Amino acid sequence: MEFSVKSGNPEKQRCGCIVIGVFEPRKLSAAGKALDKASGGFLTTLLRRGDLAGRAGQTLLTHGVPNILSERVLLVGCGKEREFDVNTYRKAVATAARTLGDTGATDAVSYLTELPLKGHDIYWKVRDSVQTTADTLYLFDQLKTSKDKPRRPLRKLVLNVPGRRDLGDGERGIRDGMAIAAGMKLAKDLGNLPGNICTPAYLAEQARGLKKQSRKLHVEVLEEADMEKLGMGALLSVARGSRQPAKLIVMDYRGGHKGDKPVVLVGKGVTFDAGGISLKPGQAMDEMKFDMCGAASVLGALAACAQLGLPLNVVGIVPATENLPDGQATKPGDIVTSMSGQTIEVLNTDAEGRLILCDALTYAERFKPAAVIDVATLTGACVIALGKHAAGLLSNHGPLAAELLNCGTTAGDRCWELPLWDDYQPQLDSNFADMANIGGREAGTITAACFLSRFTKDYHWAHLDIAGVAWNQGKEKGATGRPVPLLMQFLLERASSKQ
Ligand code: BES
Ligand code: MN
Ligand code: ZN
Repeated sequence: MEFSVKSGNPEKQRCGCIVIGVFEPRKLSAAGKALDKASGGFLTTLLRRGDLAGRAGQTLLTHGVPNILSERVLLVGCGKEREFDVNTYRKAVATAARTLGDTGATDAVSYLTELPLKGHDIYWKVRDSVQTTADTLYLFDQLKTSKDKPRRPLRKLVLNVPGRRDLGDGERGIRDGMAIAAGMKLAKDLGNLPGNICTPAYLAEQARGLKKQSRKLHVEVLEEADMEKLGMGALLSVARGSRQPAKLIVMDYRGGHKGDKPVVLVGKGVTFDAGGISLKPGQAMDEMKFDMCGAASVLGALAACAQLGLPLNVVGIVPATENLPDGQATKPGDIVTSMSGQTIEVLNTDAEGRLILCDALTYAERFKPAAVIDVATLTGACVIALGKHAAGLLSNHGPLAAELLNCGTTAGDRCWELPLWDDYQPQLDSNFADMANIGGREAGTITAACFLSRFTKDYHWAHLDIAGVAWNQGKEKGATGRPVPLLMQFLLERASSKQ
C-alpha cells in the first residue's frame, strides 16, 4: 500500500473515493460540509433521510455526488464528537480501510485526519492512520493454498493535512508510520507462523535477513557451544528437552555516535512452550507458538530502526529455544548455574522464560547499556491482572518506568506498572540453591520480575510482560504486533531528545 499526504479542498480531489467523518447525530465534519456545499446539499439530504446517524463503525457509500471530482464518497460514523478519542479514531480509520477494500476504488483521499483529537497533532494522526490501516488490511495467508484476496484492493491512500505548512509533519508521520507498520507486520508474521516453521534457527535466519535493510545493522548468532563457554547454564537448561538447537541472536544497530550507550532490547524467543516436564494442559496449547512474540517485537523494532535510519544505538538480544518434555529435559528439582554465577532450583520447568532471559540479561551488561528493556510473554498471571489492554511494566528505575508509561499512552499501546518491592523477593527462596524459579501462586507477574531483577542490578532496566497483549484469542486468533508501537515511540523520543 502506498501512503502520501496532501492538503486541498475535498471537492477538487480526483480519486476513487473520498472518506469523510460524521459525528452523531448526523453532523458532517468540516470537509464534509465543504463537499455538501459544492454538491448543493447532496450529503445533508442523504443524512436527513436517516441513512447514517453517525454511530462509531457505521458507514455509507455514495456514488454520483454532483459537482465533485471523486467517483465516490464514503461517510464514516465517528460517534459523539465530545467522546471522540484514540479508540474511536482508530475504529473510524479501520472501518474506512475495511470498507474501501470492498469497493471498486483503488485509491482514496481520507479527511479523517482533520477530526480534532485532544492531545494529538497532525503528525500523530497521519502516523496512526498509516499504522491502523496497515494493521486492518493485514492478512496471514502464506500457509493457505487458496487465497481470498480482494479483486481490486486499495492501492493508494492519501491523507489530508490542513495546510501546506503541515506537509512536513505529515510526511514525517507517513515515514514513521510505515516503518512502525512494517515492524508490526514482521512481528505478526513471525508470531503467526507455527512452531514447526518458526524455530530458533528460523528466527536467527530472519534476524540475519534484516542486515540487508541497513549497513548500520550487524547480526551475530551464538550457538549452544558458545553459550556453554559463556556459562549460560540457565538458558541451556531449557533447551535440553528440544531437538532444535537454541540460538542467542544479537542484533547491533549503530545509528548513533560511536561512544553513545545503546538501548538494549531483550525479547523472549520460546518458539513453542509445552511446559517441559511440567507439561501444560492440552487446552489451547497451540497458542504457545506465540511464546516468541517478545522476540518478534524486538526484531520488528530493529527492522523499523534500520528502515528509518534512526540516529540511535540499539541492540536487540533474543534467546531462542523450544521448551519440550524429553528424556534429556531438565526436571523439577534440578539445579542449574546461570551466567551470573547464581544458582537456580528449577521447581517448575514451565517457568522457562525467566531462565532464558536471565542469561540474556547478564549478557546485555557487555554493551554498557543506557537502558535495558526486556519484552516477554512471561506469565499467565499478567493476563489475569491486566487482560489484553495493557502490558505489565516493572522496573528498577522510576524515570525509565515513567518514560515507558508515557510512551505507551502516546503510542496507543499502553503498559501499566506493577510494584517491584523487595517484600516479594522472599517468595523465591530455595532450600537448595540461591533462588527458586517460581514464587508460588500469589503475585505471579511480580515474582517473575523479581527473579529477573536479580540479574539486572548493573543498569537501568524495565520489564514488559506482554502475555495479554501479544496475541488475540478466539475467532480473531493471531499476533497483534504489540508492543512494537510502544518500543518505537520510546526509541523515536530517545533519538529526538539526543539531537
Ligand atoms: N509462556 C508462559 C506464560 C503464558 C501463559 C503466556 C499463558 C500467555 C498465556 C510461561 O512460560 C509460563 O508457562 N508461565 C507460567 C509460570 C508459572 C509456572 C510460575 C504461568 O504463567 O503459568
Ligand atoms: Mn512456560
Ligand atoms: Zn513460556
